[in-house]
Amino acid sequence: MSALSNEYWKRTHTCGELTGENTDQEVLLCGWVNTRRDHGGLIFIDLRDRYGITQVVIDPAQEAQEKGNNNNLNNPNNLLDRGSEIRNEFVLSVRGVVRGRPANMVNSKLKTGEIELLVKDLTLLSRAETPPFVVEDDVDASETLRLKHRYLDLRRSTMQRNLFVRSQFIQITREYLAGENFMDIETPILFKSTPEGARDYLVPSRVNPGAFYALPQSPQILKQLLMISGMDRYYQIARCFRDEDLRADRQPEFSQIDIELSFTDEETIFALLEGLMKRAYKEILNMDIPTPFNRLTYKEAMENYGVDKPDTRFELKLQDAGEIFANTGFNAFKSVLSSGGRIKGICVKGAAEGNAAFSRKDFDQYTKYVSNFGAKGLAWLKVIKTGPETELNSPIAKFLSQKEQVALTKTFSANAGDVIFIIADKDPDVVFAGLGALRLQIGRDRGLIDQSAFHFHWVTEFPMFEYSVEEKRYVAKHHPFTQPLDEDREKFLKDEDLPKLRAAAYDLVLNGHEVAGGSLRIHEPDIQAAMFRALNMSEDQIQSQFGFFMEALKYGTPPHGGIAVGIERNIMILVGTEAIRDVMAFPKTQKASCLMSNCPSVTAPEQLAELQISLLKQKPGSSQRSDMMKLKN
Ligand code: AMO
Ligand code: AMP
Repeated sequence: MSALSNEYWKRTHTCGELTGENTDQEVLLCGWVNTRRDHGGLIFIDLRDRYGITQVVIDPAQEAQEKGNNNNLNNPNNLLDRGSEIRNEFVLSVRGVVRGRPANMVNSKLKTGEIELLVKDLTLLSRAETPPFVVEDDVDASETLRLKHRYLDLRRSTMQRNLFVRSQFIQITREYLAGENFMDIETPILFKSTPEGARDYLVPSRVNPGAFYALPQSPQILKQLLMISGMDRYYQIARCFRDEDLRADRQPEFSQIDIELSFTDEETIFALLEGLMKRAYKEILNMDIPTPFNRLTYKEAMENYGVDKPDTRFELKLQDAGEIFANTGFNAFKSVLSSGGRIKGICVKGAAEGNAAFSRKDFDQYTKYVSNFGAKGLAWLKVIKTGPETELNSPIAKFLSQKEQVALTKTFSANAGDVIFIIADKDPDVVFAGLGALRLQIGRDRGLIDQSAFHFHWVTEFPMFEYSVEEKRYVAKHHPFTQPLDEDREKFLKDEDLPKLRAAAYDLVLNGHEVAGGSLRIHEPDIQAAMFRALNMSEDQIQSQFGFFMEALKYGTPPHGGIAVGIERNIMILVGTEAIRDVMAFPKTQKASCLMSNCPSVTAPEQLAELQISLLKQKPGSSQRSDMMKLKN
């Protein structure tokens, strides 16, 4: 077969743009066969590209086709023969004439639904084997299969739109930040460990046997060094690598819009981000996002929503019930209060009776659900009557005094027909986590969440430290370069009350997701040293891990701060998907493997020898194998 000349793929239009206005024009389209319908003597092909779908008709009865024959297709039957050979996902070049469809054939769902292309000449550019799944939006193939053939999955219009929105978001970011005088500076991928709370991915160095680079968990230290270099306003679309447990909104490799500014304060950073989001939502969704965003302190977020990234699209706030039970005779609550614990609850409107009532099974399931967060119980109380004659229906009602029952309905502003849920625990974090999760679950179950809303807000005044059960010590809640709040600086310097200290750290939260996080940084070497000491690091550890950074801080460091926006999480919300994999071209599975290329994979012994690495135990590609097993099933 002789090579085709490139005139066959010089498209005049895309498959998404022809309308009635192009009627009678001769055009050339290229694309993939989405579907082919053979009506005997008449063949319809839906031709697809990134821009849309155009219906193409092989209709030999039509004069246009008889006239337009070329060498290959020199009679109408040949054209039909060719058409009948065509299968889904073949790549075609089609020359033809645009004609209007009869009124009853107009497809209002398609941009090109008014017209079709009457074929004069059709050339096969590439054949396709029968794909392992049909490329369509309501695909029913398993995700495993789709990830194995990701290039086919990416042909689906949803995926194309998701990646387009991602590209738009990045483009808007670049324009916006350039307009605000930011410089785009790349930082190395082969570097030293940056602590962001995850494990590092290590890369062995062949020329330095036994030594390793760590892939950056973020460019945190490097962007601070750029401030010391006088780069004033920096940004980067940065790849970050974190070896941590994966979740629906977490990948081992992801991208941030990483930003750092000198001579700044929180207000400047908040306004900068608000401006970016406002512009992105306007340009992408034509939506006016109100700014400035609301703010909540970490404490307010925890007390009202039980989590530090609250979904504020619905109410159902947590209320405190500790005072009500100060003198209670109910043992479960009494013992919690006497051990310094907390009692909190939520009130679900109209959930006690009627069609929308919670069943006994619901109560059991919610109890089981909150136990995953450590809750030892979940008390539920149906409100039958309020006021002085208050009546509650609950397994614990008999343990509560009338006074407690009245106070309970008052505190929760409960009416007859409502249901109150309560969790008591000596560890306040269990109360927050259990109720925070229950609130979200009930919000979803009862359709309380306005899916079309975008609720942005800032969460501020995070704690400096949090206790790591795994490491049995305090670790930095944000990262160890974060400055204490001015009000807490003295205490920090005196090493007092560490668990209570607040940091100049902030997160941007959108619909219950942390979509950005940042802080003002420590710029004084002695404060940075104090921070490392507070984290129980020895002088040797400080020197070996951060010696170069401590040294740099000594040469004139401007006060500075910054933030990093998680690109994938923002796109997930913009396009309305729950899975981070839907907004990345080539994502990893829950087990951090790529099913398409089978990585990570076993390395040849010679390659390991060259790196002077020997494996403790050969267990080749175990995680990846189990993913492949799933595929076969
Ligand atoms: P942080 O660790 O909060 O801050 O990360 C910033 C944002 O990145 C996103 N993100 C992730 N997205 C997908 N998968 C992951 N595994 C993942 N981890 C984080 C989140 C998060 O808000 N150096 C600091 C920023 C700074 O202080 O300027 C940092 O990386 O949306
Ligand atoms: P028990 O006496 O442990 O069977 O508990 C009686 C009721 O109190 C059950 O409905 C429990 O769900 C509830 N309960 C017990 N402990 C707690 C707790 N820590 N928080 C909320 N409710 C609890």
